[in-house]
Amino acid sequence: MRRALLSRLCAAALAVAACASLCSGLICICHLCERTNFTCETEGACWASVMLTNGRQEVVKSCLSVGELKAEVFCHGSRSITRKCCYTDFCNNNTIHLPAGQGSPSKPKLTPVELTVIIIIPVCVLSVVVLLTLYTCQGHHCRFRKKKKLNIEEPLSECSLVNPGKTLKDLIFDMTTSGSGSGLPLLVQRTIARTIVLQEIVGKGRFGEVWRGKWCGEDVAVKIFSSRDERSWFREAEIYQTIMLRHENILGFIAADNKDNGTWTQLWLVSEYYEQGSLFDYLNSNTVTVDGMIKLTFSIASGLAHLHMEIVGTQGKPAIAHRDLKSKNILVKRNETCAIADLGLAVKHNSVLNTIDIPQNPRVGTKRYMAPEILDDAMNINIFESFKRADIYALGLVYWEISRRCSVGGIVEEYQLPYHDVVPSDPSIEDMKKVVCEQKLRPNIPNQWQSCEALRVMGRIMRECWYANGAARLTALRIKKTISQLCVQKDSKA
Ligand SMILES: Nc1ncnc2c1ncn2[C@@H]1O[C@H](COP(=O)(O)OP(=O)(O)OP(=O)(O)O)[C@@H](O)[C@H]1O
Ligand SMILES: [Mg+2]
Repeated sequence: MRRALLSRLCAAALAVAACASLCSGLICICHLCERTNFTCETEGACWASVMLTNGRQEVVKSCLSVGELKAEVFCHGSRSITRKCCYTDFCNNNTIHLPAGQGSPSKPKLTPVELTVIIIIPVCVLSVVVLLTLYTCQGHHCRFRKKKKLNIEEPLSECSLVNPGKTLKDLIFDMTTSGSGSGLPLLVQRTIARTIVLQEIVGKGRFGEVWRGKWCGEDVAVKIFSSRDERSWFREAEIYQTIMLRHENILGFIAADNKDNGTWTQLWLVSEYYEQGSLFDYLNSNTVTVDGMIKLTFSIASGLAHLHMEIVGTQGKPAIAHRDLKSKNILVKRNETCAIADLGLAVKHNSVLNTIDIPQNPRVGTKRYMAPEILDDAMNINIFESFKRADIYALGLVYWEISRRCSVGGIVEEYQLPYHDVVPSDPSIEDMKKVVCEQKLRPNIPNQWQSCEALRVMGRIMRECWYANGAARLTALRIKKTISQLCVQKDSKA
C-alpha cells in the first residue's frame, strides 16, 4: 500500500517537473550529438549512465524524452550500472562512477556446475598427491626395513649358502684342492667380500687402510685400496692367486673385490685376520723365549722358501721374490708362528722363458731393508736369483729384530729397527747407501749371543744373509734347514 502511494507521488512529481521543462526546455550534455555541439534539448531530463562493457567503463550522457522518463528504468541504476536523471541545464556534466566494487572487471558469476568442478578438481588432485606421498613413503620405509633386515640376515643366509657348517679355511681348502689350486672362484670371492661387515681399522700403509671385518662370525682382514692404487690392488690379488701359493706361512688370501659405490671404486683385498698384527707390532710389545724365537724364525724361513721355490708341473708354481720383506709385512698368528704378507711388489719367474713377469724397477720396497746391490744400482735384474738374494738380505735384518727380543738369562734388548743408530727415521737411498755400501756397516751382533747356541746360530745366519756379494748369501731353504736343526737339537736335549 505504502509503496503504491509512494510511486504515485513520484509519478506526480515527475509530471510536474516535465511540465516545467516543457515550459523552459532543458539543455543537457549529449555525447552523441555531434551536430548540435554535443548538447541536446529535452522536455524530459538530462541523463548520464556509466556501465562496464568488455571490461571498459563506458559513459553515456544525453537527454531523456518525457516518454523515456515515464519508463522510469532509465533513472534507476543497478549493481553494475549507474544511471542518473537530473532536471537542470547541463546537470549531467559531472563525473559519475560505477557502483562500489565494480571498478575492476567483474568476475563472471559461476554456475553451480562450474563451482562444483572448481572445488572437486583441486580436492581430487590433492587427495591423489597425498595418497602418492603416503605410498612412496611407505615403499621407502618398507625397502629401508627390508634393507635393514637384509643387512642383519644377509651374512647368515650367505653363510648357510656358501658355508654350511664350515670355516673359511675349510671352504678355501676344499675349493683350492678341487679347483684350479689358486683359490676361490671369483663369484664366491665377490659374494664373500660383499657380506663382510667392517668392524674397526687396524692399520694404515702406503696403499690404504687395513680393517678387521666379520664374515659369518669369523674375523677377516680387509685391505682397502683407493681407486688411485688400482694397479697395486690388482697386482697383489694376482700374486696371491698364483697356483699352489697357499702355505701356512704365507698370508691366507680369501677374496678380491672391486665395489663401485656410485662415486668411487673401493678395492678390497680380503685375507685371514691375525689379531697379533705384524711382527713389528708383536716385537714392540713382547719379548720372546729361545723356543719362541726359533718358532718365529723357522716359520718365516718356511714361508720364504715356499715363495722362492719353483714347483714344476701343471699344478706347479713359479718362483716368486717378495721385494718388500720387513717386520711390518710379516704377521704373527695366534700360535706364535708367522705369515708373510704384502705381496703387492712381488715378481714371478718364468723359468721356461727365463723372464720376469713385470717390467722391473729394482728400487721398490722399503729403503731401510734394501740390499747393498739395490742401493748402489748394481743388481743384475736379468737374473731372477738376484731378487731372491735381495729378499735374503732383508730376512737377515728381520732375524736381527727378532733375536734382540730373545730373552736369555733375563737379558733382552729393547726393540729397534735395523740401522736405527746410524740412519734417520725415514732414511733416503743416499743415507742407506752411505751406511750399507760405503761404510759397509751391518747391524751389531751382541757378544752375549755367543753364550746361547740358538742365538749364536742366528747370528751366523744373519752374517751369511748380509754379504755384500748376493751370490754368497744363504738360500731360504738352507736357512730353514739350519733352523730346523736347532729344533732337533733342542728336542734331543729335552
Ligand atoms: N691380515 C692382517 N691381520 C691383522 N692385521 C693386519 C693384517 N694385515 C695388515 N695388518 C695390520 O695393518 C697394518 C698396515 O698394513 P699395511 O700392509 O697396509 O701397511 P704396512 O705394512 O704397515 O706398511 P707398507 O705400506 O709399507 O706395507 C700392519 O702393520 C698390521 O698391523
Ligand atoms: Mg705392509
